[in-house]
Amino acid sequence: NTGTRCDLMLFGALGDLARRKLFPALYQLERAGLLAPGSRILAIARTRANTREIRERLFEKLRDHVKARDFDEAVARTLLERVDYQLLDFTDSEGFGALREWRDELRNELIVYMATPPSMYGVIARNLKATRCCNDRTRVVVEKPIGHDLASSQVINDELGEVYRESQLFRIDHYLGKETVQNLIALRFANNLFASQWDQNHISHVEITVAESVGIEGRWGYFDQAGQIRDMIQNHLLQLLCLIAMDPPADLSADSIRDEKVKVLKALKQITPDIMERYVVRGQYTSGTSDGKPVPGYLDEEGANRGSSTETFVALKAEIDNWRWSGVPFYIRTGKRLPEKLSQIIIHFKPAPHYIFDPDQKHLANNKLIIRLQPDEGMELKILTKDQGLDKGMRLRQGPLELTFSETFEAERIPDAYERLLWEVMRGNQYLFVRRDEVEYAWRWVDQIIGNWKDSGEPPKRYASGTWGPVASIAMITRDGRSWYEDA
Ligand code: BG6
Repeated sequence: NTGTRCDLMLFGALGDLARRKLFPALYQLERAGLLAPGSRILAIARTRANTREIRERLFEKLRDHVKARDFDEAVARTLLERVDYQLLDFTDSEGFGALREWRDELRNELIVYMATPPSMYGVIARNLKATRCCNDRTRVVVEKPIGHDLASSQVINDELGEVYRESQLFRIDHYLGKETVQNLIALRFANNLFASQWDQNHISHVEITVAESVGIEGRWGYFDQAGQIRDMIQNHLLQLLCLIAMDPPADLSADSIRDEKVKVLKALKQITPDIMERYVVRGQYTSGTSDGKPVPGYLDEEGANRGSSTETFVALKAEIDNWRWSGVPFYIRTGKRLPEKLSQIIIHFKPAPHYIFDPDQKHLANNKLIIRLQPDEGMELKILTKDQGLDKGMRLRQGPLELTFSETFEAERIPDAYERLLWEVMRGNQYLFVRRDEVEYAWRWVDQIIGNWKDSGEPPKRYASGTWGPVASIAMITRDGRSWYEDA
């Protein structure tokens, strides 16, 4: 089951993303025998070096970033045999002649991967076109962030759109490549048990938590311009929300799925200034501990501007104004320097209409479906049973029906998101990539929240590193008579 032969031009081949994610993902595809014989990779960057030196450097990076138990020197060498290196200033149109020569030797389909700042996308696209390096079958992969607001994302999308059709563009949101995220589609639409319960008649509320224990070290410059809402909510969290909330697509084609996601984004209730205080909490971490070690606050990180009011945490209550979800809040939170790396979705089902058990246990009486994205990918359905023992009478006990992917499917390893995404690009399948209108509707919703923050001039609320964010984020949910889920 090898993929079709294709050539990959990788712009920004020596950058952080290429080193940490893209080459390790290509390595795994090579190891699995999914790279067709004859497929080539052109690594393009601004560093003066030759192909031999770059192969050696990439070999060392692979050794660092691929798990030791998966690392096989021979596989790494086979992959690197495919790699040529080209020094290039991306703005130098004449320099693209060298890419043309590389292309001329080959007859394969071309994939262009822009692992560069988005400000480069337009000029790379134009130069590729001017030197006739690409054609209307070329697939083009671009990374987030697509802009920092609606207007700037439109500029980037227009620049790409001048050269490529939408069907050629693969906008990455790496959350869509995560195993459990794809499983949301299987869970919802292959199991009628859930499909028939998936609305405001049966679900009281939904929680989405994407927590990280790391801080911003090393990325301060980029992050401070973005903040947590642009870095995480505009893309990853809203994509998760869409997959949970969308109506069933007619089929698994990219456009059927993306049409449904767009409908969700369009139905998101606007968060106007008068409700901001109850609906959105922004925070910034101060010093504290992480994994038992003392860590500095955001404003004391290396390279920090001490006056910054950029948020590193956001909690918000999203509502979807449509038939299916009317009255069902989606509580979302994400932040840096939280106590652990944990991404999970909790679906809280409504209790049974009439309760006949111990009144003291009434708070237990609703089922929960817990979808663990990381770590420990899996799902857990909390159900109520009778406690064991003669003396317990009809006391209830809450227990899990549990599905841990690594155990149940005896999977040796769960593929990283980038492996899946690169594989889908090679197959030309866009269903795990973001369409232009999704990006734009997501910005529209996020822009008004950012605008409200700006108008109010309120600084973010502080929270100590190693805690679950500002207390206001707890108040936001308890005000509704609920709490953030904690596993008992
Ligand atoms: C990236 C963000 O898109 O996602 C980072 O820019 C964040 O700030 C990362 O750390 C989280 O990804 P994951 O896969 O580790 O949950």
